[in-house]
Amino acid sequence: MTSIFRSPQALQLTLALIKPDAVAHPLILEAVHQQILSNKFLIVRMRDLHWKKEDCCRFYREHEGRFFYQRLVEFMASGPIRAYILAHKDAIQLWRTLMGPTRVFRARHMAPDSIRGSLGLTDTRNTTHGSDSVVSASREIAAFFPDFSEQRWYEEEEPQLRHGPVHYSPEKGIHCAAATGSPKPT
Ligand code: RTP
Ligand code: MG
Repeated sequence: MTSIFRSPQALQLTLALIKPDAVAHPLILEAVHQQILSNKFLIVRMRDLHWKKEDCCRFYREHEGRFFYQRLVEFMASGPIRAYILAHKDAIQLWRTLMGPTRVFRARHMAPDSIRGSLGLTDTRNTTHGSDSVVSASREIAAFFPDFSEQRWYEEEEPQLRHGPVHYSPEKGIHCAAATGSPKPT
């Protein structure tokens, strides 16, 4: 599936996760994937995995000591998750807006069409994660995709993706520049 994608501004990267509550249900997983596509994110990399509790503790160390920390890390280790590197103009903010507020009651009332507003189950089991800044996006991308070089991606893939045309592979679930056929092993 090839389409034109043109952005006058540099693409920004963010790390998105689909949490165990959503991955456990194939239709919900597919619905979130479709939301990513329909909101014109470019899927730069995608990976399915099952985290160990110590990985969750490291990832969420900024929340250590908060009342929800234990149940959060246990939940995130409780089943398979999906990780994406997403690209878009202002990807970080755009993905967070699409997710909606953290707490499910607020999400349902203030942003009923958001991912959390429509699919979130509880304040912990709230379907998705998104990086909250450029610094955390870089840290989180490195945590999930250790072989991915942001610098190399900006030098080699970003200009091609930004100017299009872009190919989406439904089998692989990722986008690549139509000229190259598959993402470079960065
Ligand atoms: P995330 O990191 O998952 O994208 O979510 P966020 O920025 O909107 O929220 P954050 O404050 O970073 O919290 C991380 C995750 O901890 C769980 N949480 N539970 N009141 C609660 O019970 C509570 N508060 C936060 C959620 O799973 C949240 O996404
Ligand atoms: Mg957060």
